[in-house]
Order: sequence, then structure tokens, then C-alpha cells
Amino acid sequence: MSQTLKHYLQFSDLTADEYAYLFTRSALIKSKFKAYDKHQPLTDRTLAMIFEKASTRTRISFEAGMYQMGGAVVHLTTGDSQLGRAEPIEDSAKVISRMVDLVMIRTYEQTKIERFAANSRVPVINGLTNEFHPCQILADLFTFIEHRGDVSLPLDCLKGKVVAWVGDGNNMANTWLQAADLLGFTVHVSTPSGYEVNQAVAGVSNNHCFKVFTDPLQACRDADLVTTDVWTSMGYEAENEARRKAFAAWCVDEAMMAVAKPDALFMHCLPAHRGEEVQAEVIDGAQSVVWDEAENRLHAQKALMEFLLLGRL
Ligand code: CP
Ligand code: NVA
Repeated sequence: MSQTLKHYLQFSDLTADEYAYLFTRSALIKSKFKAYDKHQPLTDRTLAMIFEKASTRTRISFEAGMYQMGGAVVHLTTGDSQLGRAEPIEDSAKVISRMVDLVMIRTYEQTKIERFAANSRVPVINGLTNEFHPCQILADLFTFIEHRGDVSLPLDCLKGKVVAWVGDGNNMANTWLQAADLLGFTVHVSTPSGYEVNQAVAGVSNNHCFKVFTDPLQACRDADLVTTDVWTSMGYEAENEARRKAFAAWCVDEAMMAVAKPDALFMHCLPAHRGEEVQAEVIDGAQSVVWDEAENRLHAQKALMEFLLLGRL
């Protein structure tokens, strides 16, 4: 079966209707996984995973997911491939995409993954760049729908909701903005000064999808979901000390959760630093769904890989 070449480089690469399909499909794939019911639509397909930054969740969810679907995986890093010895990205894309069916890349600049995709014969998935982390938001929204909605009408429970983003205006924040723009919810963003989201980098034309708050507590007021991320993302380690000072008040604590809706959920893409961006009482508390969120990377990305290779089934 041939499928038009479709990449997943940022959240806005899919339509709302395609997301509705993916969320419902993720629920089906998850229920089959839980029942030990084989789901192997990708037999004889190979995924190449290229990591230029560290990973636990992304690697294991893509690798285990591909094996569970009957496929195989090749794992490359900058250090153990010619990518680290300056082989042009375009040449690497041409070679790798002749040998595998799908490529997942975790790298630095978004332009790098775009150059790879422009020279690839097979779908390319963004496993995190400096600018975006679409697979994470795919899993986060699926988790929200599982907890607060109905997987057969997956987009209904997102419409009009408020997501509070407390922390860095980073790859996660940018992707939340794109998701809000496409799926009809609002992000209340609170970042320290100097670390604001940049609407142009986030790639959202509609500034109604987010509202900026200087006080993180006010951003959390009446939120349906409170979420945060590390103060220092991978690649920005040289700024660590300055960031520790600037972000000290951007720690999601019980006071912030108390002003959110009583049934508000807490999410964090992980890895987390208790006592920095989140208090232990919050991430380990009753409103936190971080373990479901991490697990759902597996199910949502299986649905995504199947969709990119085979279309709607
Ligand atoms: N959340 C996430 O992408 O985790 P890893 O860095 O462990 O892959
Ligand atoms: N913003 C973080 C996310 C890690 C999954 C980073 O880019 O390091």
C-alpha cells in the first residue's frame, strides 16, 4: 500500500481531524497492548532513530513501540555515526531514507530536521528540537482526554479549556501554543522576564490562543491543566546558573494548584527536578498524571507511526 509522504516535524503538520483519528486510534492500540492482543501492522518495516541529545522516554517508546508493531529499529547517535563527522545532513537523509521506512530525529535546530525531511524518501518524525516537541504534546493531550473526556469524541473535551504553562518559553511551550491554536483551547503562559515565548518561533498566527501572565500563580487560576518543564533545556546548559536565579519563583507548588480548577491535572514531560520547577508534593500528589503521560508516549507514537506509514486503517 503506498501512502503520500507525510512528515511530523511540528504539531501543526497534522489537521484537527487527523488528531481526532490519532487519539481514538491511540486508545484502541493501548487497549490491545493492555490485553496482550498482538497489533503488528508494521511487520518488516524499519525505523531509524537519530539522537543528537540524550533521551530515556523517547528512545524506549519509539523502540519498544516499533518492535511491538512487528517492525525493527536502528539506533544512531552523533558520536557513533558519520553525522558527528560532518557528513552533510542532506547526504545522510538520502542514504538513511533508502534503507528504512521511517526516521525519528532528536536534534538541535528545527532547520536541521527540515533539511533532513526535504531530502528524505520516507516520513520523518520530530523527537524533539530546540523549538518543538510535538510527540510529547500528542501524548499529553491524549492523557488529558483519557482523564477528562471521551476517546470516541476526543476533541470535544479540549475546546475552551485552559492550560497553564509555568516556566521557560521553550520547545514544550511553543508546541502547546500550536496545539491550542489548532484545537481551540487557551494557554496561560507565565515565564520569567527574558524567557518569554516568541510567537514567531512558535509559529502561531493567532494570538488569542495564549495569554501572558507575569505572576505564575495568576496563570494557574481556574486552569484545567497545570504544566511545566525543566528550567534549563538540553543544549542550554551554559545558562544554568543564570536560569536558576531567574526561575526561582517559577516552581509549581500547592498554592498554584489550589487556585486552578478543583479537578485540574498536573503534567510534566519529564525528566523533572523536584524543588526546582515543581514541588515534590505536586508531582507526587493526587492531581499529577505524569506516569500515565509518560506511558502514553508509547501508545500515541504507535498510532502516529502507523498513520504516517499506512494512513487511516
Ligand atoms: N519527555 C521526554 O521526551 O523524555 P526523554 O528526554 O527521556 O526522551
Ligand atoms: N525542554 C526539555 C524537554 C526534555 C524532554 C529539553 O528540551 O531538554
